[in-house]
This record gives sequence, C-alpha cells and structure tokens, in this order.
Amino acid sequence: MKTAFILNGPNLNLLGTREPAVYGSRTLADVRALCEKACAAHGFALDFRQTNHEGILVDWIQEAGQAQASGSAVGVILNAGAYTHTSVALHDAIKGAGVSLIELHISNVHAREAFRHYSYISPAARAVMAGFGVEGYGLAVAALATF
Ligand code: DQA
Repeated sequence: MKTAFILNGPNLNLLGTREPAVYGSRTLADVRALCEKACAAHGFALDFRQTNHEGILVDWIQEAGQAQASGSAVGVILNAGAYTHTSVALHDAIKGAGVSLIELHISNVHAREAFRHYSYISPAARAVMAGFGVEGYGLAVAALATF
C-alpha cells in the first residue's frame, strides 16, 4: 500500500476558529478524518502533518520525494498556507525532490487579495486545486489516485 503525504503549513492548525467565513468551521482534526476516509477508499496509507515552519516543510517534501522514489509513496498534497506566496525554498524542494505534488488551497486564492494570486508552488506542482473548501482534500486524494 502506497502512502499519500498530506502536508499542511502555517496557521492551518487554527482551522475551525481562523476566519471561518473564509476557511469554514471544520478543524484540522476533521480534515485529517476526511483524508483518512478518502485514503482508505483509494487504498492509500495516510501520512498527515502540519507545521508552522518553512524548513520543516522542506524536510518533509524531501522525505516524500525519497519515499516516492523508493516506491512507497504516491505523492504529496501540499497546502503551504502563506508560504505559497513567498517561498522559493519550497519551489526548489519540490523540484529537487522530484515528487508528484498537488498544490491545494481551501479558499479560492484568485478571488482574494492580489498578494495571494502568485504562487511559488504552482510552477513546480503537477496540479493545483483551490476553492473547494476542506472537501478539496478528499478531491485531491481522488486525484492522486490517477497519478
Ligand atoms: C490557504 C490560502 C493562503 O493564501 C493562506 O495564506 C492560507 C491558506 C488556503 O488554504 O486557502 O494560509 O492556503
């Protein structure tokens, strides 16, 4: 059974109480439960993580790339939070790790502030999803199954 890495960046630990009009009322624990169901339905093991630290995301992307290269992982779903719009290091990590990665956003970043319209992740990602709310995580797991 291959592992799906679902990696979450800064402030996503606050889901449920953080700007509920934008991100909804479900918590990160709810999202993890949703991902567990979706992974079980698609025959994946789930490795679900969250960190507020950019370098830790870099480490995890490298780890996922090694797991994919060894055949034990299918790829990564990454919600990099605000690092999406700032991080050359994450762009380089995705390219360097050679990992199949879906960039995910809960909100439709293109309908929000201009500073959210550019993503350093998108040019290195295999696919991009935004605006499906937390249900997007389940949809992204289904998309991983097509890789
Ligand atoms: C987000 C969108 C980002 O712009 C923001 O900084 C986040 C969450 C989303 O899931 O919609 O932290 O990635």
